[in-house]
Amino acid sequence: MSVDSTPRAPERKRALSTYEVYLHTEQLFTLQKPEGERLHPDELTFQVVHQTIELWWKMTQQQLDTATNRLRGGQTEEAAWALRRAVSAQSVVAQATRQLEFVSPKDFLSFRGILGNGSGADSPGFRAILRQAPPLWEAFAAALERETISLLDLYQHPWEHATLYQCAEALVDFDELFHLFRAQHLKLAERNLGLGAIGTGGTPMPQLERTLRDLLFPLLWTVRDELLAAVQEQTGATTQSGH
Ligand code: HEM
Repeated sequence: MSVDSTPRAPERKRALSTYEVYLHTEQLFTLQKPEGERLHPDELTFQVVHQTIELWWKMTQQQLDTATNRLRGGQTEEAAWALRRAVSAQSVVAQATRQLEFVSPKDFLSFRGILGNGSGADSPGFRAILRQAPPLWEAFAAALERETISLLDLYQHPWEHATLYQCAEALVDFDELFHLFRAQHLKLAERNLGLGAIGTGGTPMPQLERTLRDLLFPLLWTVRDELLAAVQEQTGATTQSGH
C-alpha cells in the first residue's frame, strides 16, 4: 500500500457561476437551519414557506407603493397595472401556505417550542401591507375627487370611468385575497393547534378568528350596500330577497 506523503494543497473552492453570484444562492441557502440542527426535517418546509411568503409580500409592497404613487400622479392606468400585479402575487402566497398543510400536527408540535414567543403577527410583510392600505385608499379617493365623482357614481356608471373602475375592483380583489389568506391561515393554525390554543405570540384562537372581520378598504364593500339600497329605492322594493 502506498501512502502519499505530499502535503495536500488546501481544497480550492470552486468559482461561483454568474447565476450563483447574481442571485446570492450561497447566502440564500444559509438562511435555513442546517440539516443537523433541525429538530424535525419539516423545519425546512416551515422556514422556506415563511421566507417565501415574506419575499412575495416584499414584492407586493413595491407594487402597492407604485399604485399609490401613480394614483397620486394621475396615472391611473399604471396604477391599475401595479394593482393587478399585487393581486396576482397573492396566489403564490396562497400556494406556499398550503405546503404547510403537509406537516402533521404532531410533527409541528415537535419543533413549535423553538419558536419561543416568535409570532407571524410580527411578520414585517404583513404589517407593511396593513400600513400601506390607508395611504393607498387616500390616493384612490383623491383620484375620484379629481374626477368629481363619488364612489357610488363610479359603481353606477363603471365604464364612464373605466380605468378608475378597474383600480377599484383590483383593490377589492386585493382585499378579498388578503382576507382569504387570513382565513386559510386560521384553518392552518387550527389544523395544527386545535380550536382553543393560545398562539406563541399570546393571541387566543378565537381572537385570531375575529381578524376575519377586518377589511383593508371597507368603503369598497359598503358601496355595495349603497348600490343595493339605490336599486331598491328605484324599484320600490321594501323586502329583502335572498339574492
Ligand atoms: C403551522 C403553521 C402556523 C401556525 C400554527 C400559526 C399560528 C398562528 C397563531 C396562533 C397566530 C396568532 C398570533 C400568535 O399568538 O402567535 C398567528 C398569527 C399570524 N400568523 Fe401564523 N401560523 C402558522 C403559519 C403562518 C404562516 C405560513 C404565515 C405567513 C407568513 C403566518 C403569518 C401570520 C400572520 C400574518 C399572523 C397575524 C394574523 C392577523 O393578525 O390576522 N403564519 N399564527
